[in-house]
Amino acid sequence: MQIDLTAKVALVTGASSGIGFAIAKRLIESGATVVITGRKQDAIEEAAAALGEDCIPLVADVTQASEMDGVVRRIQQTLGKLDIVVANAGVGANAPLGEIDDEKFEKVIGTNLKGALNTVQSALPMLRPGASIVLIGSTGSFEAPSTMSVYGATKAGLRAFAKTWIKDIEGRGIRINVVSPGAIDTPSLRDALGGNGNSAINALNERSPIGRIGTPEEVANVVAFFASDAASYINGEELYVDGGLKV
Ligand SMILES: NC(=O)c1ccc[n+]([C@@H]2O[C@H](COP(=O)([O-])OP(=O)(O)OC[C@H]3O[C@@H](n4cnc5c(N)ncnc54)[C@H](OP(=O)(O)O)[C@@H]3O)[C@@H](O)[C@H]2O)c1
Repeated sequence: MQIDLTAKVALVTGASSGIGFAIAKRLIESGATVVITGRKQDAIEEAAAALGEDCIPLVADVTQASEMDGVVRRIQQTLGKLDIVVANAGVGANAPLGEIDDEKFEKVIGTNLKGALNTVQSALPMLRPGASIVLIGSTGSFEAPSTMSVYGATKAGLRAFAKTWIKDIEGRGIRINVVSPGAIDTPSLRDALGGNGNSAINALNERSPIGRIGTPEEVANVVAFFASDAASYINGEELYVDGGLKV
């Protein structure tokens, strides 16, 4: 599908690698100027160099509301508007019930749930009618693997956020949707699988009704659609990009 994002300005959090990088690339290819964020300066600048002149890198930690306010101030000063917000930054941490300590809990909740809240709340004053917010969820919100309960809870929380937020901002003409990937081949998935990388990927391929795990680009295509005016009447929805696994 041809997606036209000409003259749009987008913010994608956690875009130095994986799904966020692919989303930024797709939005730029569709005509947008894209601000990307991440915590590590080298990584975010390297990503921006690969994405070209329509990409602006900013170092910011989504867990810190003041840093996200700073990102939005920079967008206001340099680009003057913001049309698309993709709250993508997210992390997981393995711990079975009985071993979920404060550190792991705070890290996952802080990044995935509070990070999305910080991103959207900072951006909201700049958003005008026609703007689109996309939250990156996960099929883990329905059925997270063992040891990933906190991760699953945060992703279920994003669904709850979207359903209530569209009521909170009723009448402003801003859409909020959730895109929920299944297993996608990214650095974080391979890290989570640990030393068993390839055999675990093969097992995931076999579990998938479509016969393989997904690519970051396949998620990015859907995000670009939700971000665009082609999705102008889709609001408060969640779409699974999982090759049919959740079914
Ligand atoms: N891969 C999958 O199978 C899969 C499946 C379902 C959902 N998802 C979701 O998709 C999103 C992206 O995942 P991914 O697999 O692409 O991960 P990834 O390759 O590990 O990338 C994560 C990105 O987020 C950034 N990040 C992490 N913590 C951050 C923070 N506190 N503030 C700002 N940026 C932060 C990282 O950069 P820095 O470390 O430099 O900050 C990196 O750019 C996540 O929300 C994840 O839950 C992934």
